[in-house]
Amino acid sequence: MILDILVSASLLGCDLANLENEIDDIKRAGADWLHCDVMDGAFVDNISFGQPVLKCVMRITDEPLDVHLMIQDPIRYIDTYADLGPEIITFHLEAADDPQAVIDKIHSRGIKAGISIKPETTVAEVKPYLKSADLVLVMTVNPGFGGQVFLPQTLDKISEIRYIVDTLERDTYIEVDGGINAKTVKLCRQAGANVFVSGSYIFGADDRTAAVGSLKQI
Ligand code: DX5
Ligand code: ZN
Repeated sequence: MILDILVSASLLGCDLANLENEIDDIKRAGADWLHCDVMDGAFVDNISFGQPVLKCVMRITDEPLDVHLMIQDPIRYIDTYADLGPEIITFHLEAADDPQAVIDKIHSRGIKAGISIKPETTVAEVKPYLKSADLVLVMTVNPGFGGQVFLPQTLDKISEIRYIVDTLERDTYIEVDGGINAKTVKLCRQAGANVFVSGSYIFGADDRTAAVGSLKQI
């Protein structure tokens, strides 16, 4: 199966005081999606931005939004984020009482559904949802902060999930997030990931086009 390789630029890594220019610039650099980390200070130890900010982002760009909800009990907020018209809404398995109900709710709004797992969560726990999720986000750091170091022990989970979705003959995206750079992207590609979130690496680069390009190189 030929996989689309996508780079999702994490807004958390940009200069938020200069959002419009940063979004234009990273689009010109070749980023495919805008990764939007919504944090509630409860599921993770950080608070970022939410629907009011993303509503403004939608107004100034046509880049597809890749919404990553790091919030407790995400079903409460699916309609709020679906109203923005994102490409995809991803929630955390660990944060939901009934993950299937969250997937179904996202689908009922005509939006792709992603499910994410933290580094300590096993493939067995997410397996029941691989038949219906459009994307699996394997966190390669503990969620909550940009600029952390990639955790190589997550690679085996990526390979296992790739094997399962290929066996199911599904073209599920396998996304990785946290500590992705020109070096770690290769390990994730070999393991079977095809969507690469990057914040500090691409926004911190002197040449952002080269940095995005380095994440797409085979
Ligand atoms: C962390 C967020 C990431 C973060 C990645 O919890 O989910 O999307 O912005 O940042 P980098 O690429 O700097 O690790
Ligand atoms: Zn994220």
